[in-house]
Amino acid sequence: MAGVSLGLSDNARKQIAESLGPILADHYLLALKTQNFHWNVTGPNFQGLHTLFGTQYEALHAALDEIAERIRTLGYPAPGGFAVYSKLASLPEAKGGESWSQMCDQLAEDNDKLVQRCRPVRELAEGLGDAETGDLMIERMDALAKAAWMLRSHTG
Ligand SMILES: [Fe+2]
Repeated sequence: MAGVSLGLSDNARKQIAESLGPILADHYLLALKTQNFHWNVTGPNFQGLHTLFGTQYEALHAALDEIAERIRTLGYPAPGGFAVYSKLASLPEAKGGESWSQMCDQLAEDNDKLVQRCRPVRELAEGLGDAETGDLMIERMDALAKAAWMLRSHTG
């Protein structure tokens, strides 16, 4: 198999791929948490929140596939599995028993935090000449920030 180049140094590809691992893991954690709230939400706005959480976890799944495939494109293995993700991820797990408004607050905060984690990866990638990963991080920040806004709008 021919080596990966893409006009990036080996060191750049390695640094960027490694920086995407925790972003992938946090997307997985947030997708699972959002899906779990999709299942367990109750209350006066059940239908609205069940649907919103459903749309958001599906979007997170689609996004994490893009992130994993970017890692592969850079020439590195994409991490997978609960054990490795729990080491790489930094967002908090749900405790269980959250009210619908706690679910919205927690997910809004998590989406915000993940925006903050994508930002330095964008800067790193662009500093190393990898505009494609930079663009992917911009897309992620935009979508995550929008998700946080929608979640916050449910609780006033
Ligand atoms: Fe469902």
